[in-house]
Amino acid sequence: METTAPAAYEQKGVILHVENLSVSYGDRVIIRDINLSEKDTVRPNRQQGQIIAFLGRSGRGKSTLFRALTGMEKPATGRVLIPDLSKPVTDGQQPAKQVQEGDVGFVNQKYTLFRHKTVYNTLLFALRKTTLSKQEKDEKITQYLNDWGLTNCKDQFPNFLSGGQRQRTAILEQLLSSGHYMVLDEPFSGLDIGNIENVKKAFQLINQSHELNTIMFSTHDIELAVELADSIYIVGYKQEDNGQTGSVGTIVKHFDLKQMGLAWQERFTGQHLECVQEVKNIMLKS
Ligand SMILES: Nc1ncnc2c1ncn2[C@@H]1O[C@H](COP(=O)(O)OP(=O)(O)O)[C@@H](O)[C@H]1O
Ligand SMILES: [Mg+2]
Repeated sequence: METTAPAAYEQKGVILHVENLSVSYGDRVIIRDINLSEKDTVRPNRQQGQIIAFLGRSGRGKSTLFRALTGMEKPATGRVLIPDLSKPVTDGQQPAKQVQEGDVGFVNQKYTLFRHKTVYNTLLFALRKTTLSKQEKDEKITQYLNDWGLTNCKDQFPNFLSGGQRQRTAILEQLLSSGHYMVLDEPFSGLDIGNIENVKKAFQLINQSHELNTIMFSTHDIELAVELADSIYIVGYKQEDNGQTGSVGTIVKHFDLKQMGLAWQERFTGQHLECVQEVKNIMLKS
């Protein structure tokens, strides 16, 4: 079987800590006992963020979990912590804070944009809370438009954008308006192969532009998750003690693809395929 050498990396401070999280809608508990922790991953001579995928069958609570991770939904129990970058590091640790709406960018499947704003003005609006000067904002936007292949549609309104341009603008808008974190709910659903490549490229650009940048996404495409992510969580129903499948979503399995030697590989190997198969088997039972 074809294998490749695992990539070297180090783990630094905690960048996301979810503790005993549950979310209910009314009386109904949707997700429960969610615990996960991700650290800042550092690779030698590389600027590299984190890409975390969430897989699971429909209705298991992925979107609900994302709403809690972005602070849009209040936990019934537990908490979601991210580093508080406004506070100084003490004892080598960045103080943590509970996530609040606006800390984490959220991109929905429809790539909603302001109808009456051009691409440039959308991005300018996204930077409104920063302390950058007018000129710095302009320089930043110009640079991003160039890096993301959007220079030519700078003055376009959303209705005149192609699907790919629209996605990139929506992702960029969230990237500029929030911190280093971004949640994308099923960003690959319903896209043609060209636009899938566009979103993959956008992921790469985000991932390589800051060490703390963290992309969390859900998908039904297991191969794509194994190809792109360095960490995968499966959201599903746990088997109860009586052998019955439960009806509350939780994390039923975590794959650390860095540890497995599957992250950041040039090629999709037999080991990746084995992982895909394992994920499928777990999803079918949860
Ligand atoms: N706003 C809501 N009010 C009540 N129930 C909801 C709401 N949103 C989602 N649900 C229910 O929560 C469960 C999980 O949904 P969701 O988080 O969208 O799962 P997934 O994204 O994994 O498909 C589903 O049974 C869904 O019907
Ligand atoms: Mg969903």
